[in-house]
Amino acid sequence: MKIQIINGPNLNLLGIREPGVYGSSSFLSYLEELKRMFPEVEIDYYQSNTEGEIINKIHEKGFSYDGIILNAGAYTHTSVAIYDAIKAIQTPVIEVHISNVHAREEFRHRSLIAAACKGVIAGFGFDSYRLSVEALKSMIGKL
Ligand code: DQA
Repeated sequence: MKIQIINGPNLNLLGIREPGVYGSSSFLSYLEELKRMFPEVEIDYYQSNTEGEIINKIHEKGFSYDGIILNAGAYTHTSVAIYDAIKAIQTPVIEVHISNVHAREEFRHRSLIAAACKGVIAGFGFDSYRLSVEALKSMIGKL
């Protein structure tokens, strides 16, 4: 089973960026932990601050991988182009957020990409990614 994690803008600064909201650990150290939790799953990781690069990665993996876990960061709330990219591929996508976007500013309450995704997991810190892997595993097991 192959899963691609895609993190969008500003998520390269996890650990440094607003630690009160996003925690103080780096994503790369969490990623090692996540891979240890799921030795049977091949987990690839990609981060970009650029909308077009995120779309290119969705296209690249969207016909061969079993699942995509996408934290589109602020593009979640603005990007019709990422919504279209998710609609264009075959691989199921889970929308993920570290913070509970619904408990934050109003502009974060709306997701332009959620309707194209299989589901949304938000608000559990980095554990949102583990929950997404679990969700993909049980979804794919039922196919
Ligand atoms: C985020 C929430 C977004 O609103 C924000 O723009 C981010 C991170 C999260 O993981 O909680 O960059 O996607």
